[in-house]
Amino acid sequence: MDDITATAVGTPNIALVKYWGRRDAVLNLPMNSSFSLTLDESLRTTTSVMFSDSLAEDSLYVDGEIQNLNDPKNEKSAFAGKVIGILRSMSGVESKALVVSTNTFPKSAGFASSASGGAALAMAASEALGLKLDRRLLSIIARQISGSACRSVCGGFVVWKAGEKGDGTDSYAESIAPASHWPDVIDVIATISSAKKKISSSEGHTLTPKTSELYRARPGIAEEHVKRIIEAVRQKDFGTVAEITMKDSNSMHAVMLDSFPPITYLNDISRAVIYAIHELNNAEGTPIAAYTFDAGPNAHVITLKQHKNKVVSALRDIAGDGVVVAGLGEGPRLLSEKESLIKDGVPT
Ligand code: PMV
Repeated sequence: MDDITATAVGTPNIALVKYWGRRDAVLNLPMNSSFSLTLDESLRTTTSVMFSDSLAEDSLYVDGEIQNLNDPKNEKSAFAGKVIGILRSMSGVESKALVVSTNTFPKSAGFASSASGGAALAMAASEALGLKLDRRLLSIIARQISGSACRSVCGGFVVWKAGEKGDGTDSYAESIAPASHWPDVIDVIATISSAKKKISSSEGHTLTPKTSELYRARPGIAEEHVKRIIEAVRQKDFGTVAEITMKDSNSMHAVMLDSFPPITYLNDISRAVIYAIHELNNAEGTPIAAYTFDAGPNAHVITLKQHKNKVVSALRDIAGDGVVVAGLGEGPRLLSEKESLIKDGVPT
């Protein structure tokens, strides 16, 4: 077989209604649907994949460093290996793969590259193998890298339906509106800490549903939030989007704290951001900004372009200079051969 190569770029997403808790750890099936914004290429992962008979084994390079694909503790490589394996068996190609990936995330921004990387890898590998997969199937495959990665396969405003089936075929992401529907929406990101989290999201997804009593109410609350936020996005009703976003982040961090032992990701600086945004909204007399936090202390503040300066300056006062602004994007795309990270069969 001739060598086959493809390259794709993927971007992160930020959930406004969160996924926390899974009903199946192998397939990454969530307890509830979630809703997110796919960000533009201000932050991105580029991934090239080559399948070749000349390769003796699968290998993965991330930001210039080789990763051990046989190390089960290395989540990045274990997930990449899993996706390559799934796509290889779908295509019938048996050749080994070389995967080369680079992130342009600002240094120490503390972002997980699993979502942008998962979307780029699923798209590049399926293209190289000649599999004509639609976004739904790509998202089902990316979901197996990390649950939230499935949302980065779609552009703009995205819902990941929890689904009900045991095999996960009805648990996929889809765009409810492209980024162009509401291009004024932006995410102002404040880096508060880039230290490694003590409890991985993977552990949390299992611990919280098992031990938190409050969690019994969480899937129902999140489903209701998803329904309402879809309607609010369709109407471009920022006040409702902002309120649901802040409440849903607080709801997720409440069930994290109610886990046993408790899981805490927010720190005093994160809480200072929460209070500052409420103060800003009160001063404006209407919600102009909404905070949301993932499994870490870094703040994402969703706002509209016309309020960018106010929000950036409020965040700089609290978190210092580590503030990045991202708009909305249309999801992963293929790059040309010229942009490949693999030249003459080796990483560039
Ligand atoms: O995709 P994972 O397993 O890293 O879980 C992500 C969970 C949150 O980021 C906290 C919420 C979300 O929906 O993105």
